[in-house]
Amino acid sequence: MPHMSVRPETASAQQTNQKFTSYGDLGFSRFIRMAFARHTGLGPEDYEKPVVGICDTTSDINRCHTHFGPIIEAIKRGILMEGGIPLGFPTISLGEVFTSPTTMLYRNLAAMDTEEMIRAQPLDGVVLLGGCDKTTPAQLMGAASADVPAIQFTGGPMANGEYEGRTLGACSDCRYFWQEYRAGEVTEEELDAINKSLAPTAGHCMVMGSASTMAVVSEALGMMLPGAAAIPATDNRRLEAAQQTGRLIVRLVQSGTRPSDIMTRRAFENAIRLLMAVGGSTNAVIHLVAIAGRLGIELPLALFDELGKSTPLVANLRPAGKYQMEEFFRAGGAPAVMQEISDLLHLEEPTVTGHTLGENIKDAGVPPAYRDIIRSAREPLHRDGGIAVLRGNLAPGGAVIKSKAASPSLMKHRGRAVVFSGIEDLQERIDDPELDVEADDVLVLKNAGPVGAPGMPEAGLLPIPKKLLERGVRDMVRISDCRMSGTASGTIVLHVAPEAAIGGPLVLVQTGDEIEMDVETRRLQLLVDEKELARRKKSWQPPPKVERGYTRLYQEHVLQANEGCDFDFLRRV
Ligand code: FES
Repeated sequence: MPHMSVRPETASAQQTNQKFTSYGDLGFSRFIRMAFARHTGLGPEDYEKPVVGICDTTSDINRCHTHFGPIIEAIKRGILMEGGIPLGFPTISLGEVFTSPTTMLYRNLAAMDTEEMIRAQPLDGVVLLGGCDKTTPAQLMGAASADVPAIQFTGGPMANGEYEGRTLGACSDCRYFWQEYRAGEVTEEELDAINKSLAPTAGHCMVMGSASTMAVVSEALGMMLPGAAAIPATDNRRLEAAQQTGRLIVRLVQSGTRPSDIMTRRAFENAIRLLMAVGGSTNAVIHLVAIAGRLGIELPLALFDELGKSTPLVANLRPAGKYQMEEFFRAGGAPAVMQEISDLLHLEEPTVTGHTLGENIKDAGVPPAYRDIIRSAREPLHRDGGIAVLRGNLAPGGAVIKSKAASPSLMKHRGRAVVFSGIEDLQERIDDPELDVEADDVLVLKNAGPVGAPGMPEAGLLPIPKKLLERGVRDMVRISDCRMSGTASGTIVLHVAPEAAIGGPLVLVQTGDEIEMDVETRRLQLLVDEKELARRKKSWQPPPKVERGYTRLYQEHVLQANEGCDFDFLRRV
């Protein structure tokens, strides 16, 4: 058996040699590590092979990740087949509907966990295994900063739900049927029956919400095996893709290709194009800005707007369209969409496959039977992308609207503001029969942003007041400094920056003020005299911050939505 202290300086060994526990004696550090590593049956010669970590976010609480066991086994098989050593390790798991007050508060913590564990442990490469909304961006942020060869893989979307012949989607239909229940159109018994079918299998939400969006966007970034994003969670082809991913990561380690080689500015432009072409989640705007920031790449909101205006929306997927991920997979998934808009992409960008993006998608296409699911760029669902960026005196740093999931009749609107000072105030008063509100008013929620909430929860889909629901109203213009689920729809203006809690203009809005929104011209104006706004600002006091712990750190260092909500000290400068 070779002596453990004379390990040859292969590329792999150089990497792991920098990662010994510090005792002030490198020889001893090697000696003690090998003594402790032997219980697995691995010997010194095994550690000459590429050592690949599998960053595992399995959790019994995060139901979107409970099926990861066989996926991890398949990834391990692939790594072994290619001559590597697989070593799984846990990181924080963030389940959207099981985390209080919101997973977004913890995305940066998960990114830090991912980055530091990749950096601290003796790994030559890593497979990032996520799925539920914030896990994928957190992993990409962490991997970008650690800059060790990495491939993203996800758990895949759930199968469709079904209720009395109607396809159900988590969680566009969670929101739709809850609203109909509040309106008195659905009974408690019906709601209970629907509840049983909304999330019928393992996997993440199966509409083009934030989880699906970040998965397909990972393909466009070049960080995931082409076609892997849309494979249903329970389809055996997901295990094939997992095994292939295991093989690829070993080759990626051997080639020395790092996330910073793949996630270039042009790769981010590809990702934004795909985001627009699939009508993806507004949350992806924040996440892409944050991931890019880890690599020193600036993605101003204006770039999203510019690329959105010239990218056709071709994927007919909920909530902007009709179908769900199961159908999207059959139609060809992300590679087929990228093939449709290939004229707009930087096809020469490198990817984790060792091939360019163009080479990855060259054989992709949409079978004729599925043409309504992925349209051609000549006959798209919409001529421009799904997200628009608004600006004006109410949002000098910008705000976003998922325009293709909004009501066309409200795209240009002027109305009286009905203001809620925070999430508690909203919950207390929204269904008050005495609330002075009409259908053409604009509902405004303040103090729900990154610092204010804190954590920028998905409360931007303000409920329609019950008394208006009962009158048949189903959409209104709603404006806030928080986010909304990627599965939601409505005329919702989100991510208003700067937020109210740091003194952004949103904090100055009062009930009765007029607000004007015009999506076509990208304007969002508070029609109040500047002198009056200055007078209101004088009496404003910032709300107190929480006293201690991670949330205090978050409030002190989180950046605004247009800057990606990362911590200021984590961006590459
Ligand atoms: Fe996990 Fe929707 S709750 S992706």
